[in-house]
Amino acid sequence: MATVFTDSKLPFSLDPYHVSAELGFVLQAPQQELPEFYQPWMDIALRITDLVQSHMLRSRIDKMPLLSTEYLETHRDLRLAHLALSAMTMGYVWQEGEDGTIEMLPQNLAVPLWEVSQGSGLPPILTHADAVLANWRKKDPDGNLELLVTLPGGDSARGFFMVTLLVELAAVPALRSIPTVINGVRRGDGEAVAGALEVIQQSLQDMTHALKLMHVYVEPSIFYGIMRIYLSGWKDNPSMPKGLVYEGVQTEPMHYSGGSAAQSSLLHCFDQLLGVQHEATSGHFLHRMRDYMPPAHRRLIQDISREPSLREFVQGERASNARLSRAFTLCVAQLVALRSDHINMVSRFISIPAGRARQLRSRGRTAGETEAISMAPVALEERGTGGSGIMTFLKTVRDRTGDACLPGSSEALQEQGGQL
Ligand code: HEM
Repeated sequence: MATVFTDSKLPFSLDPYHVSAELGFVLQAPQQELPEFYQPWMDIALRITDLVQSHMLRSRIDKMPLLSTEYLETHRDLRLAHLALSAMTMGYVWQEGEDGTIEMLPQNLAVPLWEVSQGSGLPPILTHADAVLANWRKKDPDGNLELLVTLPGGDSARGFFMVTLLVELAAVPALRSIPTVINGVRRGDGEAVAGALEVIQQSLQDMTHALKLMHVYVEPSIFYGIMRIYLSGWKDNPSMPKGLVYEGVQTEPMHYSGGSAAQSSLLHCFDQLLGVQHEATSGHFLHRMRDYMPPAHRRLIQDISREPSLREFVQGERASNARLSRAFTLCVAQLVALRSDHINMVSRFISIPAGRARQLRSRGRTAGETEAISMAPVALEERGTGGSGIMTFLKTVRDRTGDACLPGSSEALQEQGGQL
């Protein structure tokens, strides 16, 4: 990875990190079509759901020509190619469910996926950067959005990716305020930092509201029973213990985690800014998720962590600047609230359906069982798509977030009606 040397005499800015003022980490105007030469890919990528349902995706991909990637010229071309090829890969691997997986991805898919992965700095698997950040277009002049590529799950799949996109968009004011915080700390300007933290807190609250839309647009049984497997990877996944051989790339199997919003750079940035220190095991998982982000976004997280500590600055100013310490505490409290709501959502979309699936299994599946939940993979019951033990992990991450609060401030906050 290329190192960007930021001259600390220059003000901190988001310019070197591929972050847009309007859309944050979301890719601006993603490419919707590839050069004509790549039509054989797009013909399949735009029909993944139908082809999976008719059990034809693997045979269509097997007959696909092995195409050179040399005509993919721009970053946007590479991102669309990565989205298309990685989504096809998920369909290919999981088309026959957890008992019908494969050990080798055919070279006409594996080789170009590998090459566009090298070109874009993403791993050769579907990531948050593909399915959410680079997977949208304007449907009409009113600005309504739709997905470019989708996976099985119908309206719930669309809802899942779109709501996640809305969370990314709600975070844009917070992202834009990060340089103001950093430059304010560098200059010792407590008022500027307090103002920027107030914007960040509001934006975190808007993200929390956007997250709740998941309950409106996604049906838990469809998410759990149908969609989730297509987001699963081949690292620490009992259904694919050997990993996956990418034919024509290397003979040894490779292991990659599945797609998850743990790969979104947002909370990683806010954690670094606010000084959240994660516990070793969960911190290790979160750190590993950075390998699934676009390299420029990964660098931003790292560069924020190298800046002088905001938390120490707030602590130093505490006696003289009540607005500043309150804004900092409210930001931490809002990040805790966001993570608590996310935990509730995971309970509704994974833990509860998993309980129902176990119940159905113990009763014995009937031949005509149509309940979506009964189609869910067993191997992932207790695990996240990234391979983590879900609830312990999420609660540890949430609790460590609260620990970033300044000593004594949680009591002060509770007195004001807030909570940590
Ligand atoms: C139905 C919706 C969702 C479910 C079931 C879900 C589930 C999970 C699970 C199981 C994990 C554990 C790690 C892993 O397995 O990858 C996780 C982590 C995470 N998810 Fe979600 N998620 C959902 C939506 C979202 C959305 C919309 C966001 C925000 C963009 C989000 C942000 C995160 C973050 C940041 C983590 C890492 C843990 C943390 O930093 O607190 N998730 N999610």
